[in-house]
Amino acid sequence: MQEHHAGGNLRINRDLTPKEMLQVIFDYAAKIANERRLDNLLMLMADMGREMVVADRCTVWLLDSQKDELFSTVAHGVTPLRLPSTAGLVGHAVQTGQPIFIEDAYTNHEFADVLQSGAIAMDKLTGYRTKALMVIPFRNNRGEIMGAYQAVNKLIPDEMFSERDLEHLTLAASYAGKSLESALLTAEIEETQKEIIFSMGEIGESRSKETGNHVKRVAEYSYVLARGCGLSHEEAELLKHASPMHDIGKVAIPDDVLKKPGKLTEEEFAVMQSHTTIGYQLLKNSKRSLLQAAATVAHQHHEKWDGSGYPSGLHGEDIHIYSRITAIADVFDALGSERVYKKAWELDRILRLFKEERGQHFDPHLVDVFMEQLPELLRIRDEYVDV
Ligand code: C2E
Ligand code: SIN
Ligand code: SIN
Ligand code: FE
Ligand code: FE
Repeated sequence: MQEHHAGGNLRINRDLTPKEMLQVIFDYAAKIANERRLDNLLMLMADMGREMVVADRCTVWLLDSQKDELFSTVAHGVTPLRLPSTAGLVGHAVQTGQPIFIEDAYTNHEFADVLQSGAIAMDKLTGYRTKALMVIPFRNNRGEIMGAYQAVNKLIPDEMFSERDLEHLTLAASYAGKSLESALLTAEIEETQKEIIFSMGEIGESRSKETGNHVKRVAEYSYVLARGCGLSHEEAELLKHASPMHDIGKVAIPDDVLKKPGKLTEEEFAVMQSHTTIGYQLLKNSKRSLLQAAATVAHQHHEKWDGSGYPSGLHGEDIHIYSRITAIADVFDALGSERVYKKAWELDRILRLFKEERGQHFDPHLVDVFMEQLPELLRIRDEYVDV
């Protein structure tokens, strides 16, 4: 049986820390962005998924809807395979669109038949012991199912995948769907990189249970505000792709602070505030203009025009225009959304806050642009409403 190992990566028997998780994503982002061959891409995606959830094996399956087959390439001991599109757990997942989460294949009841004729029958032939299994379908940009991620056997002592693993593999899968599609269509490298970066932003957000469309809306609001204050299309596009990463540093904030239902204590808020400097540290070393813009925005998005913000207490135009724009986009979205610690606000109340904070929290000129662009911002809010 052939084992595929990504260069230099060690197998470990514990979960990754948030920073290790980001490192894995960064490492694969670079490799994936330079890869044009579909079979290699599938393998890199599988390797990325395997490392993210510390699985023994991970396979990325693609649905070939013309032949009604599932297709995969050599990865982690599974030989290249074509299966009927309804076969096994993967078939079940792509047919129903629902993820599958199994703690032990041998005691599971829900999928007993499929497992007996699939994984367990294969184990008898190979001597492998399948225990924990996750299968997560993924979709293309039009929402059609393209394939599924399958992860087998968790390499930590209790041998079970967690809720967190499911979340992380789901993110890897959503990214795989988007970037495999662009690889299939055009092999457009820039697009792929943007998708990767966008997914990293989603990882920051998903930790704090901010719902899926938050990063999308912040991206679109930022573009509109940037154009409204006179930035070029190119710069506004750059900001649109950089602003979703503003909270990437939240990956390093402990759950008991990040997910606390009530108000934070002073100490807890101080921990929370470190997401700005952590995000900056994570992003600042890249020379790519997109990541540099993202580093600035991660660092400065909680600075305030009157100098009362954090982490540096910068004033006025010392705060980069990208950060001043993202601050408005972020707070507009945070106020209009439910959080673990607050309800969504009515529009009237949101607008009152922006008027009060004009020249205090926010750049006064940008608040004017915000008011001018409000119809367009509300259209975006409706388009990307959380379900
Ligand atoms: P977030 O929930 O996404 O909020 C982003 C920013 O929107 C906040 O930055 C703040 O400027 C604004 N904002 C959000 N909700 C409110 C509100 O109810 N009233 C007002 N006036 N402004 C609001 P901030 O305050 O620096 O907080 C940064 C992040 O820290 C928040 O992101 C959230 O993740 C966390 N956080 C802040 N306060 C609490 C809290 O009381 N409990 C919990 N669990 N988390 C909090
Ligand atoms: C598959 O390849 O379909 C997954 C294994 C199984 O379904 O038992
Ligand atoms: C924050 O910036 O800490 C929270 C903003 C957000 O939810 O994007
Ligand atoms: Fe933030
Ligand atoms: Fe945010």
